Amino acid sequence: MTQDELKTLVGRAALDYVVAGEIVGVGTGSTVNKFIEALAAMKDRIPGAVSSSVASTERLQALGIRVFDANEVGELAVYIDGADEIDGRGYMVKGGGAALTREKIVAAQSRRFVCIADESKRVDVLGRFPLPVEVIPMATQRIVRQFRALGGTATVRLKDGKPLVTDNGQHILDVTGLAIREPLAFESEVNQWPGVVTVGVFAHQKASVCLLGTASGVQTIAY
Ligand code: A5P
Repeated sequence: MTQDELKTLVGRAALDYVVAGEIVGVGTGSTVNKFIEALAAMKDRIPGAVSSSVASTERLQALGIRVFDANEVGELAVYIDGADEIDGRGYMVKGGGAALTREKIVAAQSRRFVCIADESKRVDVLGRFPLPVEVIPMATQRIVRQFRALGGTATVRLKDGKPLVTDNGQHILDVTGLAIREPLAFESEVNQWPGVVTVGVFAHQKASVCLLGTASGVQTIAY
């Protein structure tokens, strides 16, 4: 099976976790796009969605799915999103699509996080994928130096030759050279550096369940 087929498989499998009558939290990325396509089939059974990005909002609305502001609704039953990496404990690296801050907000608002990923995302230790960090631009160089002190190399993510600007009007650093063995402690530490909006380690908001797309089908892993 191709990677795209594996994404379709897990995107469809995630429908089983959507609770009829409840608003669903929706992440961002190519795997979630498959889920959004599948969700259209049950749009009449849910009031709508809370979205983690402008891109996902546009896709949801184009399919006739109502999008609520996170402040309009209370706790969500479930949040469905992809990951750039997931380890054996359900800790993840996210933000390859630059939507990490809103993703973490919607995940925090949800009782369960269902991660949908193809098996290429499974790692033993987080850090193989360059770690995304959303930062306030005036703090960029100081944060680059702080990562250097930890052995990491941070570079500003570019789009069309200029720093990429997130949905929140900020920039993204991508950090290579880190092996994140203690995700909870790492997330807590980096998140309190002045100028860091959100670090792309999802340990405090880890997955409850991962639907992993493999050559032999969908593997369901609960943490
Ligand atoms: C978006 O900012 C990310 O956190 C995505 O969830 C992650 O990059 C996975 O994306 P893909 O499904 O496209 O691999």
